[in-house]
Amino acid sequence: MKNIAIFASGSGSNAEKIMEYFQNSQQVKVALVVSNNQNAFVLERAKKYRVPTMLLPKNWKSDAENISKNLKEKGIDLIVLAGFMQLIPSELISAFPNKIINIHPALLPKYGGKGMYGMHVHRAVKSAGDSESGISIHFVNEKYDEGEIILQKKCSISDEDTPESIQQKVQKLEHEYFVKAIEKVLG
Ligand code: GAR
Repeated sequence: MKNIAIFASGSGSNAEKIMEYFQNSQQVKVALVVSNNQNAFVLERAKKYRVPTMLLPKNWKSDAENISKNLKEKGIDLIVLAGFMQLIPSELISAFPNKIINIHPALLPKYGGKGMYGMHVHRAVKSAGDSESGISIHFVNEKYDEGEIILQKKCSISDEDTPESIQQKVQKLEHEYFVKAIEKVLG
C-alpha cells in the first residue's frame, strides 16, 4: 500500500476527487490531508472520507524538518499539492525527492510563478487572448511551477469564453487527470 498526503489551502475539490477515487483502492491510500488554513473547506471534505487532517502552524516552514519527520513516521510515500498556495521549503523537498507533485491550472511554462494561482491564471490567459489552456502536473522543486512536467492536458478557448468558463474547463481536466498522474508516479 502506498500512502499519500494531500496538501491543500482552500476548497479542495481536487482533493475530494482524489479521496473518492482511491477510497476502496488496495494500492493507494489517502492517509492524510494537510492544510495551512484552518478555515479551508478541504478539512470538511477530509472528514467526509474519514481521512485524518493536519493543520500547519503559521511558522511551519521554520519547522520543516520536524514536519518531514512526522510525515515519514506516518509512512507517507507521496505528497500531492492540490491547490496548496505556499512554497514548499527545501528541507521537505530533499526529504521527499521526486515524491512531491503539484497541479497547476495552465500550460506551464506559461502562466506560472509567484502570484499565478487560481483565477489570476485564468484572467491572464483570457487577457492574452490565447486559444488554448489546460493543466500541468509536475514535480516540485524549490521554485514555483518549475519542476519536471509529468502530464499536461489541453482545452480550447473561444472568444466567448470568460475567465470563469475557462476555469470550469480547466477544472474538468484536473478532476479527470490528476488521479491518473498520481497512479503514474506511484508506478
Ligand atoms: C486548482 O485549480 C489548482 O490547479 C490551483 O488551485 C485550484 C484549487 O482548487 N492551483 C494553483 O493555482 C497553484 N498555483 P480546489 O481547491 O478546488 O482543488
